[in-house]
Amino acid sequence: MNRRRFFKGALGVVAGLGVSHSVLGQAMNTMCDLTARQAEGPFYPVFDQVDKDNDLIHVRGKRDKAKGQVIYVLGQVLNEQCEPIEGALVEIWQAAESGRYNHPGDSNPAPLDPNFQYWGKDVSDKDGNYSFKTILPGNYPATEEWIRPSHIHYKVQRRGFFELITQLYFKGNPYNESDRILNSLSPQERKGVIVDLLPPLTGMEKDAQHCIFNITLRQVR
Ligand SMILES: [Fe+2]
Repeated sequence: MNRRRFFKGALGVVAGLGVSHSVLGQAMNTMCDLTARQAEGPFYPVFDQVDKDNDLIHVRGKRDKAKGQVIYVLGQVLNEQCEPIEGALVEIWQAAESGRYNHPGDSNPAPLDPNFQYWGKDVSDKDGNYSFKTILPGNYPATEEWIRPSHIHYKVQRRGFFELITQLYFKGNPYNESDRILNSLSPQERKGVIVDLLPPLTGMEKDAQHCIFNITLRQVR
């Protein structure tokens, strides 16, 4: 079983564990709240890379894996009627465990991790499912008095829908409360972009964690 199949299988396990369809955003005849737009930030990748898959902890050609807490980010891409969107391109980019981005504009002196992929992509399947295996990004200083909490940047594109640029956060991070970007959202929007880190599902490494982030795109009318 290749890695990609494993990820999709893991999401099947989520459903099998009795997580209700409404949790996964599949409730019928209901409206899904649009995922909040947030700043793209200055670190969208500018360097091409050989390895562009959805497993960011392994870089093709490197033997060692990335440093940090392994996390699986699973979810569905949905429309406003909570129906799955197939074929959406989901890109993520993020800092390494140290808080450093692989970007020439990042002046953070924290070290780069040569075994971390920094950017990856996936395409949602017929049930709208996408997945990534990555590490929990480090907090990092945005300015002298502003520490950004761990977050993962997202760009989601599908013909017929507005492109969505947003960021995903993790519950319990002490810097969430004072983050200027997160605080610019309404309480409802904020709830939609902060996820719980949960224990591993069957088939995941024992010390891994997982989270579920569903994304609702706005249809072009
Ligand atoms: Fe960032």
